[in-house]
Amino acid sequence: MYKIVNKTELVPKIKIFEVEAPEVAAKSNPGQFLIVINGEKGERIPLTLCGYDTKKGTVSFAFHEVGKTTKDLGKLEPGQEIDNVTGPLGNPSEIKNFGKVLCVGGSVMIAPLLLQSKALKEAGNHVTTVLGARSHPFIMMEQEAEKYSDKVIISTDDGSKGYKGLGFLKELCEKEKFDRCVVMGPVILMKDVSAITKPFNIPTIVTTTPIMIDGMGMCGVCRVTVGGKMLFGCVDGPEFDGHLVDFDELILRQRTMLPEERLSSVLAEMHGGCKCGRHKA
Ligand SMILES: Cc1cc2nc3c(=O)[nH]c(=O)nc-3n(C[C@H](O)[C@H](O)[C@H](O)COP(=O)(O)OP(=O)(O)OC[C@H]3O[C@@H](n4cnc5c(N)ncnc54)[C@H](O)[C@@H]3O)c2cc1C
Ligand code: FES
Repeated sequence: MYKIVNKTELVPKIKIFEVEAPEVAAKSNPGQFLIVINGEKGERIPLTLCGYDTKKGTVSFAFHEVGKTTKDLGKLEPGQEIDNVTGPLGNPSEIKNFGKVLCVGGSVMIAPLLLQSKALKEAGNHVTTVLGARSHPFIMMEQEAEKYSDKVIISTDDGSKGYKGLGFLKELCEKEKFDRCVVMGPVILMKDVSAITKPFNIPTIVTTTPIMIDGMGMCGVCRVTVGGKMLFGCVDGPEFDGHLVDFDELILRQRTMLPEERLSSVLAEMHGGCKCGRHKA
């Protein structure tokens, strides 16, 4: 069992947990992910590491409450325990001095992106971090971004704070001559940013989040096409060259289970939410 030692709501429906998991923390690196299981019959959900503390023996992950499992997870409180936290899984991010790095994060994935911004800054890079969200109240971790970056830029879909949309990025790439770009967020964000950086030949690394089951290369569910080759998100990724990923296929594959996911959410609401017995619905 894995005890929750800290819980913070970053913005509505996005929470971050710090959990005791000393063996996982000891091996963790930026870019890797965990598989979390809440409840004896709980679903396995992959969540990206957004922090680890080897002295305290803890790991942190942020999650967006989008369906049954993440909503149930969000009801747990510090002192309660999670049944399983497996990891670290996937390959660590490449961290070295590239020069000028552009880090672009959207929504919940801003939290793990900042772990990379921090590591890239410590490796000597000049780091520009873009925080993206649909509107002003959903911009999160601005202070942390300031701490780990040389420059922070805000972008919202509705223009309620910072730039409206991603139109500014083209001009920024022209002006700044970045040596590398790292993108974490919704697939559409990774697709759009990769399309912008491609004409500038800026190597662009995206973190793919295909549906996963085992997270260890056995089931084949997490297939992603990269440069015409079929790769597994869990063991070959989750990071890939954004200029080679078939994002349209990734979007289609992510939607494969949509009817079942919706049904599971509706049934959970109808039958009073979580059945793990450790908290009230
Ligand atoms: C390697 C990896 C790392 C991830 N890291 C994070 C993270 O750090 N924080 C976070 O909040 N989420 C992350 N995800 C996505 C997360 O695993 C899903 O949101 C979660 O499994 C949803 O479970 P659920 O039962 O609550 O919702 P479900 O009922 O399974 O789904 C609810 C909604 O979320 C969408 N969804 C489900 N799975 C995914 C997915 N893999 N990618 C995108 N949308 C999905 C569905 O299409 C549906 O619209 C990651 C996924 C992968 C593969
Ligand atoms: S999740 Fe099963 S092979 Fe990747």
